[in-house]
Amino acid sequence: MAQAQTETNHGGPKEEESLTSRLPTREGWWKPFFLFQGFWFTPQMVRSTVLVQAQFRPRADDIILATYPKCGTTWLKALAFTVAHRSQHPVASHGHPVLTSHPQDLVPFLELPHRELHPIEELEALPSPRLLSTHLPCTSLPSGASTLGCRIVYLCREPKDVLVSMWHYTNKVRKDFHIDLGKAFEFFCEGVSLGGPFWEHCLGYWKWSMEEPGRVLFLKYDEMMANPAEHVKMLAEFLGVPFTEEEESAGVVEEVVRLCSFENLKSLPVNSTGVSDRVGGLPMENASFFRSGKVGDWKNHLTEEMARKLDCIVEEKLKGSGLSF
Ligand code: A3P
Repeated sequence: MAQAQTETNHGGPKEEESLTSRLPTREGWWKPFFLFQGFWFTPQMVRSTVLVQAQFRPRADDIILATYPKCGTTWLKALAFTVAHRSQHPVASHGHPVLTSHPQDLVPFLELPHRELHPIEELEALPSPRLLSTHLPCTSLPSGASTLGCRIVYLCREPKDVLVSMWHYTNKVRKDFHIDLGKAFEFFCEGVSLGGPFWEHCLGYWKWSMEEPGRVLFLKYDEMMANPAEHVKMLAEFLGVPFTEEEESAGVVEEVVRLCSFENLKSLPVNSTGVSDRVGGLPMENASFFRSGKVGDWKNHLTEEMARKLDCIVEEKLKGSGLSF
């Protein structure tokens, strides 16, 4: 997989400032976005990505959960953590970490909180094998992630639901700002959304998963919702911790599904109350990550014309790739 070249000497803040000043920029959802290595980011995200590329040291046994924002990251973090750590934390145990920690805190992001103020060394302290997450496109991952053989689980989602989820979330967490749906829709259709174009993000990981299926597991939120147990088994196989026959007959797979279900996670006090700042300078309610948890909620928000337009764009962009929604 080709890696993008970082166009910086990784110097101090001045160099990083001049980096963003050289990038193409345009109006974004709540502040200007900058085109960095082919994707739209905020300046903080650009600088954080540069630091990740320069300083993060991948290990061969790292597992990286990669998602485009609002594709089910929180769910995937809960599932992967529960599956990977079930010998240490039996799924039905009373003190299970999923009951007491927000899923976002169970699996740390590479690029968040923004690495300018939150040094990446904290990831170095984690024992192997590390479970990590990222919203970065695959071409912006630190080069070692592809050369060392880290495994990637990529989760994507039907684009109209992604747009609607992202629109709700943006207006919820950015208290001093409101974007109307029509404008968010136009931006999204032009490929301008945080970490977008959405389809390029998906296509990068899709092609990588075609080239190296043992390295990249490509999942779809909508299919996971339709058959969570099968996907939990697939995830366990991929993570190298398949369910034993005894576990299957004891119903452990179904317990994982139930523990990490939208209804269960949303109802837990750790997820339904309180405020946390996981981005760095953007405190948000823990409940912001749990909204409707449905497939097809776009029908309650987009007109048929909007739906047709976005469908056509995505179909055209994905043409010939074998990927469809
Ligand atoms: P909606 O806004 O459509 O409800 P992310 O975690 O990547 O930010 O994605 C958030 C989306 O995943 C939200 O979608 C949220 O409700 C949904 N979600 C959160 N936890 C979930 C779970 N356990 N199962 C299914 N969907 C979940």
